[in-house]
Amino acid sequence: MELDEVETIAVLGAGNMGHGIAEVAALAGYTVNLRDIKEEFVQNGYDSIEWSLNKLAEKERIGADEAEAALDRVTPLVDLGEAVADADVVIEAVPEKMDIKKEVYGEVEEHAPDRAVFATNTSSLSITELSEVTDRPEQFCGMHFFNPPVRMDLVEVISGAHSSDETLDLITELAESMDKTPVRVRKDSPGFIVNRILVPQMNEAAWILHEDAATMSEVDSTSKYGLGLPMGAFELADQVGIDVGYHVLEYMHETLGDAYEPCPLLAEKVEEGNLGKKSGKGFYDYEDGEGAQVP
Ligand code: 3HC
Repeated sequence: MELDEVETIAVLGAGNMGHGIAEVAALAGYTVNLRDIKEEFVQNGYDSIEWSLNKLAEKERIGADEAEAALDRVTPLVDLGEAVADADVVIEAVPEKMDIKKEVYGEVEEHAPDRAVFATNTSSLSITELSEVTDRPEQFCGMHFFNPPVRMDLVEVISGAHSSDETLDLITELAESMDKTPVRVRKDSPGFIVNRILVPQMNEAAWILHEDAATMSEVDSTSKYGLGLPMGAFELADQVGIDVGYHVLEYMHETLGDAYEPCPLLAEKVEEGNLGKKSGKGFYDYEDGEGAQVP
């Protein structure tokens, strides 16, 4: 398929990444079907897109008419069959668990047209393994956006063992049409490039806190002002979702070895449901409206 044949994109999963990807696709002019398993989830995703578009318009990054037109292009759906029936490209952003993703692909391939290309937004999981549960492993690759998708330029385009050049070219051009900078990742290895670097950094920050070697705000100040990163390690963990980072680490620990053992503090946060900004509390408390207090 050529880029100019892509009209409809189905985005599966309306969480932090899913709704952000849907927003980016709608801003680029595509018709978007945003799907999640519950009405409440998909509505939350849709509301977040509306919030974000309004914020972008308020900051004059886009025009108010552009914001309105983009929102009009998004249809929130619960029915998976309906969401993918006309899709030229399916971008999957469901939870970072191999079993969940495999189950979703089993269902998607039953309803998606033969021409549809599948792109997974997985943060770390094997593209090859996921592609092999579908009927079209050559029309399958990774398309990994960063949080928040509407503000982050990079997209990793990851080749699985079976991804065809045509598929990789299409997804690379699709990312460019969304005003993103695609980077081709040749090797399908856990965490690809960015998360192989970034997630261990979050884990190390958690170990420092766990060992009482420094406070959260000391760690965050040094990552911002010493390492020159836009957010402190704990601020970023809250932004990305502590559960997302933890699941990536679990997978990297399982596949790459003990250097990636998740800090118990991360498991505790996930068990308590303190997942970061999206749940109102993570390492920092956002419920009081103050968020992270980093000097
Ligand atoms: N849509 C619209 N506006 C948004 C937004 C969104 N999704 N998210 C935040 N904003 C708004 C904020 O509400 C704030 O508005 P306010 O000033 O009215 O309160 C404003 O944007 C802040 O934007 P600024 O440009 O003024 O601030 P920054 O210069 O700090 O930029 C940032 C914000 C681009 C998020 C920057 O802090 C940044 O780059 N952070 C690092 C993010 C990062 O590294 N992401 C990658 C994570 S790794 C990942 O996602 C991979 C996964 O697989 C784990």
